[in-house]
Amino acid sequence: MASFNFLKMKTYLCGKYLKQMAINAPILIKNIRELVQVETNQPKKWVAGTEMATLPTLTNAWLLLKGGLIHDFGKMKNCPTPEDDTKLIDAAGKLVFPTWVDSHTHIVYAGSREGEFVDRIKGLSYEEIAQKGGGILNSARRLQNTPEEKLFEDAWERLQEVKSYGTGAIEIKSGYGLTLESELKILRVIRKLRQKSSLTIKSTFLGAHAIPLEYKNNRQGYIDLIINQMLPQIADEELADYIDVFCDKGFFTVQETDQLLKAGAKYGLKAKIHANELAVSGGVQVGVANNALSVDHLEAMTDAEIECLKGSDTMPTMLPSTSFFLNLDYAPARKMIAAGLPVALASDYNPGSTPSGRMPFILSLACIKMRMLPQEAINAATINGAYAMEVQHELGSIAKGKKANIFITKPMDTVARIPYSFGSDLVETVIINGQLNAS
Ligand code: NIG
Ligand code: FE
Repeated sequence: MASFNFLKMKTYLCGKYLKQMAINAPILIKNIRELVQVETNQPKKWVAGTEMATLPTLTNAWLLLKGGLIHDFGKMKNCPTPEDDTKLIDAAGKLVFPTWVDSHTHIVYAGSREGEFVDRIKGLSYEEIAQKGGGILNSARRLQNTPEEKLFEDAWERLQEVKSYGTGAIEIKSGYGLTLESELKILRVIRKLRQKSSLTIKSTFLGAHAIPLEYKNNRQGYIDLIINQMLPQIADEELADYIDVFCDKGFFTVQETDQLLKAGAKYGLKAKIHANELAVSGGVQVGVANNALSVDHLEAMTDAEIECLKGSDTMPTMLPSTSFFLNLDYAPARKMIAAGLPVALASDYNPGSTPSGRMPFILSLACIKMRMLPQEAINAATINGAYAMEVQHELGSIAKGKKANIFITKPMDTVARIPYSFGSDLVETVIINGQLNAS
């Protein structure tokens, strides 16, 4: 009996404190060709406008990771003598980056949608497929019939995959449930991912992703279900950090979005919304009016949207692989940067519009299709992404005291090699919370 209790206790401790206990020996990375996105002054809120083209780096550098955090860094001429238990990594010829911050994904989903992919090749549009009960509703039907364990396993695989591409923090949305039970199921899977994974994870409630077929003629009925049943329970179980609404043509109107965001705010959920993907929807304006942390997509933009974002605390977030996959226009990155705005980049990893979470490819698209400079794209996918999921105090740059979430590249000369080599995997080693091979 005594040994049984001891075992039980050990298991309990391992489960509960796994993340804290996993912090192992310090790591000293030496001879780094270029240490990217170093921050030595006061932490920045974000990087905006012309500043986005500046990426602070240190050449011929060292970086010391200790206790799961970035302990210190500097030029090789001042490299410290490591303590005995320190693991040494020689990064000669290689670059070191803070991990990507992917502030917009939907990685908890069931099955895939390659049938619709082929339908689009044959000429159907994303909206036409959605109107026929495909699209989000197709994914919702599949998810409703999938057990929580299977959803967890699949999402866990996706997390491991994106980590190998250099992602160290990720926001994950619900939105393929569309019933009280299934939305809760997704959010509980996200909570479990958060407990088990070493990645930093934020959770967003996106019950307002589409109107379920049974509410087609009673839209307000579904909105009431979200407001009166889903939100209270989600708040009660503390299952979400943010609220999202797909504010767009054929989905939720500006008035409905406003109603939903205000209901979420009553439970302390800040807004991060889908806006202006399919049309100039008024989504940017209603997001800014509700102090949204970010407005995401922005493929359809006019000068009015850019004006509205100026002076706000809302991060315009662009998801160029959605434009790539659905053949949509790309967000007007150059116009937004020229207007002095900050911009973030995220993957939107989901089964319908971006079945991929490869952040280096997002950077390639940003550079090739939106004419962002590599430095601008890197700022957008690190420090500005961190703002868009409120982790800028602990991630998004190489700064003393921030989480030791970094990656080492294969040998290369400049940061531009990452977006240039689209489709290649140039991320060699990923370290999360100061740990190699973290899960
Ligand atoms: O961000 N636009 C809304 N939601 C997802 C796609 C949803 C789907 O087609 O499954 C997006 O692109
Ligand atoms: Fe999305």
